[in-house]
Amino acid sequence: MTQEAATSSAPKKNKKVSVSDLALLKSEGKEKISVLTAYDYSTALICDRAGVDVLLVGDSAGMVVLGHPSTVPVNMQEMLMFCGAVSRGAKRAMIIGDMPFGSYQPSTSMAIENAVQFIKGGCDAVKLEGGAEIADKVKAIVDAGVPVMGHIGLKPQTSSLWEGYRLQGRTAESAQRLVQDAQALEKAGVFSIVLEMVASEVAEVITRKVSVPTIGIGSGPECDGQVLVLHDLLGIYEDIKPKFVKRYAELAKPILDAVSSYTRDVKAGKFPDEQNTFHMNPEELEKFQGKGKKK
Ligand code: KIV
Repeated sequence: MTQEAATSSAPKKNKKVSVSDLALLKSEGKEKISVLTAYDYSTALICDRAGVDVLLVGDSAGMVVLGHPSTVPVNMQEMLMFCGAVSRGAKRAMIIGDMPFGSYQPSTSMAIENAVQFIKGGCDAVKLEGGAEIADKVKAIVDAGVPVMGHIGLKPQTSSLWEGYRLQGRTAESAQRLVQDAQALEKAGVFSIVLEMVASEVAEVITRKVSVPTIGIGSGPECDGQVLVLHDLLGIYEDIKPKFVKRYAELAKPILDAVSSYTRDVKAGKFPDEQNTFHMNPEELEKFQGKGKKK
């Protein structure tokens, strides 16, 4: 083992990533935390193999998988189905279930009950959108034994209803409110906080002021980790390319080409060919054909 490997705080290859692994990554400051969304078994298998630390079963599933115009319509039942699939695929990555709109707002007891459903469904933690205004619910869920990730800045569940998707923390006053939200969540017991579309200067200050890891999306390089929507980084939707996304592949075109070739081959009778065809045992075939003749 090299000296570097012996002293690295990186979560171990075959051990499930835990809340304390993430805390150590922040406190040592040597390595950032990689987070990605996942919604199904097959991509969870691949992401886990690639060494992603955390898989977030985001309510973005409502948009990228179910085709809704926002995250608002996705419900508990759908989220639990996605979480179950991801948990069967990922053995090392921590799995976080995103609590959908309406699953924690009505009451604290409902928030606890639904958070527990995520844990029973295979998740290791849950995520809720909101700052100081939901701190009491966050504390109650944590007190019930469920690790919670916070989410401030742009909150897609409510931003889609009120102000649209805009950069957060543009004024000194709103920047200060974001810092206070992060501190209220830290006090309530979150183990990490997502900062979505927060001006990078504000994200940097929050990252310095709170003891728990910050995970940025569109919030600059100073956060303790980064999260992206898997479909964005893979280039599945050709026409959607927010500034904060880096595309690591352009998969829409190869998928389109493959499916078009398949369709052409089927229509032209070129698929299946001999390589893809199964045959009877020759003796049985002869008997079968003989019987066919007798009839
Ligand atoms: O639902 C989601 O995918 C998210 C991330 C973008 C943070 O909340």
